[in-house]
Amino acid sequence: MMELLSENTLVLETERLRLTPFCPDDVDIAQDVMCDPKVMLFVADAMTPEAVFENMFDVVKRGAGGRIGIWCITREDTGQKIGYGVLTPVPIDESDTDWSQVVPDAYPRDQIEVGYLLVPDAWRQGFATEVCARLLRFAFERTELPEVVATTDPDNLKSQHVLKKCGMRPIGQKRAYGYDDVEWFEMTRRDWDAQNASK
Ligand SMILES: CC(C)(COP(=O)(O)OP(=O)(O)OC[C@H]1O[C@@H](n2cnc3c(N)ncnc32)[C@H](O)[C@@H]1OP(=O)(O)O)[C@@H](O)C(=O)NCCC(=O)NCCS
Repeated sequence: MMELLSENTLVLETERLRLTPFCPDDVDIAQDVMCDPKVMLFVADAMTPEAVFENMFDVVKRGAGGRIGIWCITREDTGQKIGYGVLTPVPIDESDTDWSQVVPDAYPRDQIEVGYLLVPDAWRQGFATEVCARLLRFAFERTELPEVVATTDPDNLKSQHVLKKCGMRPIGQKRAYGYDDVEWFEMTRRDWDAQNASK
């Protein structure tokens, strides 16, 4: 039986942010993010508030003893929720996460990707970089994953820059989310160990 991580262990702190496991009360920030066409430009079609509400049943699920799922991002200084970060299975042919793979006592079958979506007034302040670095640290310190991947639209240069800043390697274009030209990034456990050996 897989060890269930405590609620405290799943609260992740960074210099300026607090990441907490996504819960039904986070429907407000989910709607702010998913219903904004500017945020969704390189991600998917913007959703209606009703569709986001209905989706909450899935997006609060946690897999692998709590290790896999979505985290709400809150600014420590203002208490404002600014978006969310994910460690979730990357879909290849489907357009959305396969939540049936997110079960309490096993790792999902598909590779795990790190991701982040922030509301526009939180952009360009280094927050995505802070979130991505923290989720990678969690993934390599608290899970047994052999690697973490990331996928972006070819034109989402900002997000690609964030991934590279966090030490992820571009591995070219491959299929994901039903598209063939998605930019993939990877960090293996060996990459992580090498990058952190001197720290
Ligand atoms: C992409 C996103 C997460 C970036 O968040 P952010 O908090 O603004 O990112 P950061 O401030 O940590 O870093 C952005 C970096 O990209 C750089 N950048 C900005 N525009 C860029 C561009 N057109 N090309 C390359 N780099 C760019 C910034 O200079 C900054 O790098 P620096 O710190 O070295 O100067 C945010 O814009 C967002 O939520 N967008 C909508 C959702 C989304 O696309 N999510 C990613 C899905 S893969």
